[in-house]
Amino acid sequence: MSQKNTYDYSPASQDELDSTFDNEDISSSPRQRCWSPKAIFANALLAFISILFLSFAVYQMLRPSSSSLLSPDSFFPSFPNVKMKFIEGEHNDFMRFDEVGDAAWNGMIPNGAGYVKVDRPRRYDMEPSVPYGVGDEDAEVYQASVVHQLHCLGTLRLVLAAYARNERLENYYDSDLHMRHCLNILRQGIICAADPTLAFSKPMGKTEDGLFKAKFTNIGTVHTCRSWDAVKNFLVQHRAMDWNGTVGTT
Ligand SMILES: *[C@@H]1O[C@H](CO)[C@@H](O)[C@H](O)[C@H]1NC(C)=O
Repeated sequence: MSQKNTYDYSPASQDELDSTFDNEDISSSPRQRCWSPKAIFANALLAFISILFLSFAVYQMLRPSSSSLLSPDSFFPSFPNVKMKFIEGEHNDFMRFDEVGDAAWNGMIPNGAGYVKVDRPRRYDMEPSVPYGVGDEDAEVYQASVVHQLHCLGTLRLVLAAYARNERLENYYDSDLHMRHCLNILRQGIICAADPTLAFSKPMGKTEDGLFKAKFTNIGTVHTCRSWDAVKNFLVQHRAMDWNGTVGTT
């Protein structure tokens, strides 16, 4: 009895399944089968992944990479080189430790103290710097190294002059921290410029051992230099502010 029930039931169930399958197979066209929910999902997933990869490729292509940025040097025009011959007695004011010397050294600092305004600095391969003014979100302020180096030499001069008078400057420039900083700034500046001009010597007789003595005074030697006047004019034109600072205050 129970066996019959099972027998009766099974074929009916099988028929039903077969007929469903057959019906679908016959009545559905191949096009309709292609758009079954499963196929739609698979296609959508494929399209989504393709778009994702394509977007990433386009982003990689358009993204500003460091190689597509301008060199910071391109902010400047190409400055001309000039031949400079340093003459005996020409720059004596810079060797003085009095007010005349102070005036000569302060006169080296151009209007604006080498602080320049750079528009849209993100175009260049530069680190971010102080924002320029208020509301000008596309400009930042940078300082030209040559003026920083002059500031360092000028403040070391002030400290040296004070020590010669057995005094200390009552400010930050006469601190270990600032002097260490400036010593290194000047060393770096000298190495960076690496002026290879060959200076000639002035013979100064002989030692007792018969060796030649000589003085390398650097006077009369002709150096090939980047035009300081051209650099200074550019820095003044692009100054971030109108300000005639002293060696100590820049
Ligand atoms: C700075 O000095 C220049 C001359 O070298 C002068 O034209 C300018 O007005 C001065 N600026 C200020 C703010 O004193």
